[in-house]
Amino acid sequence: MTPVIEARGLTKAFGATRALAGVDLEADRGRVLALLGPNGAGKTTIVRVLATLLTPDAGQARICGYDVVTDAVQVRQLLALTGQYASVDDELTGAENLIMIARLLGFGRPEAKARTWQLLERFDLADAAKRAVKTYSGGMRRRLDLAASLLGNPEVLFLDEPTTGLDPRARLQMWDTVRGVVAAGTTVLLTTQYLDEADELADHVAVIDHGEVVASGTPAELKARTGTQTLAVRAADRGLTPLVAAAVAEIAGVQPEIHDETGLVMATVGDPAMAAAVVRRLDDDGITAAELTLRLPSLDEVFLTLTGHRAEDDAAGTTEGRAA
Ligand SMILES: Nc1ncnc2c1ncn2[C@@H]1O[C@H](COP(=O)(O)OP(=O)(O)O)[C@@H](O)[C@H]1O
Ligand SMILES: [Mg+2]
Repeated sequence: MTPVIEARGLTKAFGATRALAGVDLEADRGRVLALLGPNGAGKTTIVRVLATLLTPDAGQARICGYDVVTDAVQVRQLLALTGQYASVDDELTGAENLIMIARLLGFGRPEAKARTWQLLERFDLADAAKRAVKTYSGGMRRRLDLAASLLGNPEVLFLDEPTTGLDPRARLQMWDTVRGVVAAGTTVLLTTQYLDEADELADHVAVIDHGEVVASGTPAELKARTGTQTLAVRAADRGLTPLVAAAVAEIAGVQPEIHDETGLVMATVGDPAMAAAVVRRLDDDGITAAELTLRLPSLDEVFLTLTGHRAEDDAAGTTEGRAA
């Protein structure tokens, strides 16, 4: 099966700034590919190249087998792009915006109306449909923007930082909306600075840093790659916490962290078998554990391991710019 999104060796420089330094990507139909990286990593540049808005200096990219440079016309018919900033008209109502866009896409009036109302219902905007967009909240605007991009039934949807700047509730609602789009069969490429978002939505994550894919895999694969897990043990009798800490230190070979408030003793372990060893040891010493868990690293920890800095840091060491 031809991948829906395919990129090989994409490079792009803006003057002295090397925005893309050889990017390879792939996504199959109906999948969600997340480009995860800090501000300035090159995410939007990748999206703009794939969306035919920017010509790469080198490398190739195809959407459903069509080359983004030589077959740009076909590619544009297959994709929809929603940006960080809503592209709808503030003075018009939500319904007017969608009807206008549907008409521009070539739908007849009755069909434009029908599609508009279907999408307004689907995105929970029917009640607000007859209000001017300038009265909408940030989350409502994003949903309207997304609805607009779906009017043309795209095969591929590009979402550039779909939840940046949204409050937590609007963010969760956006995640649900994206899941709905994927369930309907659309392939989604989304960019995000948020590890939890990639973890929630993506089948495959490409970690982008300084214009390169520094790691790629399913969220679980990326977490497993760091090769470390966190062991957390809590004694039923808080008075025994120091003994638990001593046992963990001996078995894990590292000094554990002790959380005074919760009584949790936590240590990074390389080998999951160490959890069983700790269980046996506590049993031998007659200590009852109220809690004993082995936790995979968070994507945050993964990012730090892979790149040496946190994802939500403001891109240390890159020339800053917030290209839309
Ligand atoms: N049109 C442009 N002109 C000059 N520099 C740009 C332009 N677009 C992006 N850049 C630079 O390219 C790098 C990658 O930017 P971008 O792709 O927007 O990153 P991200 O979307 O991950 O925040 C940054 O250093 C940015 O300043
Ligand atoms: Mg960007």
